[in-house]
Amino acid sequence: MLCSNIGINESGHLTFAGEDTVRLAAHYKTPLYLMDEDRIRENCRVYKTAMARAFGDGSFPLYASKAASFKRIYAIMQDEGMAIDVVSAGEIATAKRAGFQMERAFFHGNNKTDADISYAMAANVGYFVADHEQELEIISREAKSRGIRQKVLLRLTPGIDPHTYEAVATGKVDSKFGVAIETGQAENFVRLALSLPNIRLMGYHCHVGSQVFDEDGSVYHDAAKIMLTFAADMKRKLGADMQLLDLGGGYGVRYTDADPAVDIAANIESLAEAIRSICCELGLSVPAVLLEPGRSIVADAGMTLYTAGSTKSIPGYKNYVSVDGGMTDNPRYALYGSKYTVYLANRAGEEANFRCDVVGRCCESGDIIQPDVLLPEPKRGDLIAVCTTGAYNYSMASNYNRIPRPPVVMLKGGKPTLAVRRETVDDLTALDM
Ligand code: LLP
Repeated sequence: MLCSNIGINESGHLTFAGEDTVRLAAHYKTPLYLMDEDRIRENCRVYKTAMARAFGDGSFPLYASKAASFKRIYAIMQDEGMAIDVVSAGEIATAKRAGFQMERAFFHGNNKTDADISYAMAANVGYFVADHEQELEIISREAKSRGIRQKVLLRLTPGIDPHTYEAVATGKVDSKFGVAIETGQAENFVRLALSLPNIRLMGYHCHVGSQVFDEDGSVYHDAAKIMLTFAADMKRKLGADMQLLDLGGGYGVRYTDADPAVDIAANIESLAEAIRSICCELGLSVPAVLLEPGRSIVADAGMTLYTAGSTKSIPGYKNYVSVDGGMTDNPRYALYGSKYTVYLANRAGEEANFRCDVVGRCCESGDIIQPDVLLPEPKRGDLIAVCTTGAYNYSMASNYNRIPRPPVVMLKGGKPTLAVRRETVDDLTALDM
């Protein structure tokens, strides 16, 4: 099976986190998001332990909560001692309502509105990651009005191509995020930060991209080298100290057997060695290091269950199997051509010899969950499971065609609990006047 939390039981049913998916689907109905809470916690611990060991005190992971944002997730992060990355007032409000301690939140985003900035400061968000000069000035103005010195990281673009798909490559010079080092603009950004008395410059941030495999370690090492060289330069020229270096998120996960497994702990270890040796060369004291994993915390903790509808065979062309969800609960194939592994969950042990496209129910030909998969031939009413859907599925879900979003059920120690209930028609019309 693709992942160690997936199995097949004696009834030939697919299991997830030890639970029979057929039983869960019968109880909660489909479409249904499942989240393996134990796996989420394990993934957090891999980062926390490896970072503490490799980088020492003061270094820690932030969970990039855009990957999956709802109250239960923030409660788990609080419990696991994770910090978080938030990008909107909505994520901040959700985290707060879950009881997350906001001093451990980092506020990101390329266009924080004035209202967002004010809201975040009122919510005691610990750190702002300033995206550009104008925004830094608003942060400073807001901090002044509150009589505080706001801790800030400056988001920079190191000019790195992480070799992933275009929509998620963010570290290049030509990017809507951050300020470029290469053009000299980053230096002015630092000058501005140092000149603002209500800003406390803590260090620098970059995020090279997402779903990055970085098998030879070069992407993160190069990013670290560029960032540290810049920091050393700023120290020399402007006396700017760097306490924190935040290298963003991005480690890739296995959506199919063809994807390599990233050894997070080993990557962190080698990154730490590289950082120590670069700092030594530059005569720079080693900063605390932050990483911002989103996908690699929650992706393999997720599975989506659907009920198969009709199977349509077009002679000379192909077979289509329709499910009762689609791009509304998982837009990732439609947006990025993302790969997924699909199983027929109620007959998981049978031979998978029926080639088909698994498609959604939305009025749009691009509403494809995954083309060209092999399954035992599905019959109407069979259960279809799509794996590794824990990241960027629920958080990117929509109500296109007025389709209600599925519930999220957490699986922990053999006990399912509802974390997000299913949307209803009343929810869908709640805003209509
Ligand atoms: N930090 C920053 C500043 C980010 O922008 C992101 C992701 C992360 C951390 C977390 O990256 P991760 O570890 O999850 O790769 N919707 C797309 C992914 C967008 C990623 C946006 N930023 C997808 O479904 O593939």
